Amino acid sequence: MTQARPIPEELLDKAVAKGWTSRKAAADTIELALAKGFSVEQLGVALDMGLTPERAHELLQRAALFVRNEGDIFNEQQHEYIENLKKGRYDLEWLHDPRPNWGITAKMRDAERGLTLQDINKAYAGEPDDAPELRTMAPRGAVVDPEVPDMGYVYNQKYQVWSDNVSALYEEACGRQWSATRDIPWDELKPLPDDLERAQCQIATFLSEVEMIAADFPAKWQWQMNQHFHEVKMFLCTQAMDEARHLEVFRKRALANGGGLMRCLSGTELFLRTILHAPTYIQGSFLMHVLGEGLVLDIFRGGEFLAKNKTEKEIYRLCMQDEARHVSYGTMHLKYFLEHHPEHEQALAEMHALAEVAELGIPGFLTNPFIIEPLAVLMGDGVKGMDKGMEAVRLVWVRMREEYLNRCALAGFDRRDVTKVPAEAPF
Ligand SMILES: [Fe+2]
Ligand SMILES: [Fe+2]
Repeated sequence: MTQARPIPEELLDKAVAKGWTSRKAAADTIELALAKGFSVEQLGVALDMGLTPERAHELLQRAALFVRNEGDIFNEQQHEYIENLKKGRYDLEWLHDPRPNWGITAKMRDAERGLTLQDINKAYAGEPDDAPELRTMAPRGAVVDPEVPDMGYVYNQKYQVWSDNVSALYEEACGRQWSATRDIPWDELKPLPDDLERAQCQIATFLSEVEMIAADFPAKWQWQMNQHFHEVKMFLCTQAMDEARHLEVFRKRALANGGGLMRCLSGTELFLRTILHAPTYIQGSFLMHVLGEGLVLDIFRGGEFLAKNKTEKEIYRLCMQDEARHVSYGTMHLKYFLEHHPEHEQALAEMHALAEVAELGIPGFLTNPFIIEPLAVLMGDGVKGMDKGMEAVRLVWVRMREEYLNRCALAGFDRRDVTKVPAEAPF
């Protein structure tokens, strides 16, 4: 084994300069690391890279995984196994392990659809537990080593992430992926009058700006969700891909017909920031899936009236399909969260407090000239038809409020009698 070496003073100085509070404790840790075979150079680099005392202790506990005798790339366990292999002795423990799913032959319920997640869960009663004990990446249903490391997941309760439709939504998302490059009839895009081009591009700029929040926000929380609920993570991966494509398709629309990118507003950025920095997943999910994406879905639903050609019609139609899944997950997640929260009344009260403030974003959104005026121009077929277009915007107001309240009701979160969002446009 490597002999313990004296600790260079520069290394101790560096540890203290990097915030290791006690010189004595740093010396003990470094001494142990040197004894385990780490070099002075390795420790210096590790300190430069931000090695903390806690992380150093964690690594040293597992040092056997990394440390070898000098000049030897194998540890003792590996040497023993190699010796056995040389004698033709195999381990074969894996062959005698328990077989919790042995004999399971999941069947397709629908041969045209193929083998779904629901099919395999059904085949071996593999639905997730409400509160799994392990914090590992081991697949649900596998045999797991007793000393697996804890991944540090934060969301370990099913109600914190789950929705009962999430597996079906994942399957649908995989089955309906499309390409913004290939599946949009870009050759149908023809020059538009300036007002219509500017209006379409203002909306396209807004959408390019907001779409990726629904990838960034879930991604921020995704690693913190226990992998026992892998269906949720897999669905959020499809959502991230969908949003990448939405950003792409609206950016391409803005830059494909002469109008280009237009104004981004601080109010929009503030709302995006609120979502991104929401303190919990459920709060951000409500703000984003139920409220924000719901409003965007309502815009996509109006695509028939906003589109001025087959290109734009197809863009709105395809985005609408994707967006409906995101909103559906968020709505059903809110339902699951509220129904299964151990302190239901408190959870409900907290969500109402959030909604009371957040839903004022609807009238805020619909009194923003950079949003409703381009919409009115598109729906009125030009600036000359804006008055007519504004009538359509008034209908959008009623519809956005109504759809939002319906989503809340579906989640068992009744806001109809308490919402302060006016039932009709005040203009
Ligand atoms: Fe989107
Ligand atoms: Fe979305």
